[in-house]
Amino acid sequence: MQSPKGLTGFDQGSGVENQKMRAIVQDKYGSADVLELRTIDRPEVAANEVLIEVHAAGVDRGVWHLMTGLPYLVRLAGYGITKPKNPVLGIDVAGRVVAIGPDVKRFGPGDEVFGFGNGSFAEYVTADETKLAKKPANSTFEQAAVSAVSGTTALEALTDVGRLAEDERVLIIGASGGVGTYAVQLAKALGAHVTGVSGPAMTDMVRSIGADHVFDYTSEDFADGESKYDLVLDIGGRNSLSRLRGVLRSHGTLVIVGGEGGNRLTGGVGRQVRAMMLSPFIGQRLTTFISSEHHTNIERLAEFLRSGAVVPAIGRRFDLAEVPSAIRLLEAGGSRGKSVVVIREA
Ligand SMILES: NC(=O)c1ccc[n+]([C@@H]2O[C@H](COP(=O)([O-])OP(=O)(O)OC[C@H]3O[C@@H](n4cnc5c(N)ncnc54)[C@H](OP(=O)(O)O)[C@@H]3O)[C@@H](O)[C@H]2O)c1
Repeated sequence: MQSPKGLTGFDQGSGVENQKMRAIVQDKYGSADVLELRTIDRPEVAANEVLIEVHAAGVDRGVWHLMTGLPYLVRLAGYGITKPKNPVLGIDVAGRVVAIGPDVKRFGPGDEVFGFGNGSFAEYVTADETKLAKKPANSTFEQAAVSAVSGTTALEALTDVGRLAEDERVLIIGASGGVGTYAVQLAKALGAHVTGVSGPAMTDMVRSIGADHVFDYTSEDFADGESKYDLVLDIGGRNSLSRLRGVLRSHGTLVIVGGEGGNRLTGGVGRQVRAMMLSPFIGQRLTTFISSEHHTNIERLAEFLRSGAVVPAIGRRFDLAEVPSAIRLLEAGGSRGKSVVVIREA
């Protein structure tokens, strides 16, 4: 059955567009102080979108960038030059589909899904159906909610971009963070020998999720030894290209995933540009990428969640009103694993 607006779902007849929801909203870019819990209209569903009743939403670095509008490249990428185009913050989501647009083919009301939403720190969020997958039955909403952004990035970095093969040696710099905790577990599941780099409070945790060896970056130097790696994932710490190349085998691959800091305009993307320019002239392959939000990647990740090879490392739980605290914790770097915002208990 279709509603007058072409929507299919439980809200038919009651007028989904007139209903309200609680959401974390920002009218301008800035620190976590710009975030407010407000009651606003539920979002309208476009033809290719679903409306999700949000159970949980993940907190990752991407939301910090969207909140602050930093580096400025983020604003130029289409998120809004002077203020956010979408005032509701949040990307990672898990929940239940409650309505679908007329062109949606892959989901129906009642489906439990996870993926990339358009403002998931809210009771309801819309998402393009191509950016969602069915939630694995053995994952909780909280586990699924922290997985899409970081997990698909780690999977792409290791496989499509890093071309990791069984028995290869991989160094994961930033192993305790959002992307890193998935990268360690995925690399082990793919049959690699894994060395992680993290801060001192996290080395035990990185070992516990499967790393064969862990460097504490405050007291040990991963580059100060004989070990060479087939693949280096550079996720945190912004090491120089020459240091990273120094631990790569002569035909090894460096994948620059990210790293905070850098200048306010570009976030220090010059390191990535230099790597790409140098790579054709040397034996090592130096590369970078921007992760895809396509459902094929989320479904590949879901297989690892289903098999139990990957178990999301959840740090702290927050409720919707506490999103500013969750983001301050992310800034301070004090979370063991990813923080999750629990919006509706399952
Ligand atoms: N390319 C893409 O498409 C893509 C997608 C997603 C994310 N990213 C980027 O990837 C980066 C990481 O994201 P995330 O969500 O994993 O962030 P995160 O959760 O904040 O993790 C950062 C990691 O870096 C480690 N770290 C901090 N300082 C370090 C140092 N000096 N040496 C070595 N490691 C250090 C942290 O270790 P401790 O916590 O133990 O100190 C932590 O493991 C961000 O810059 C993000 O924007 C890129």
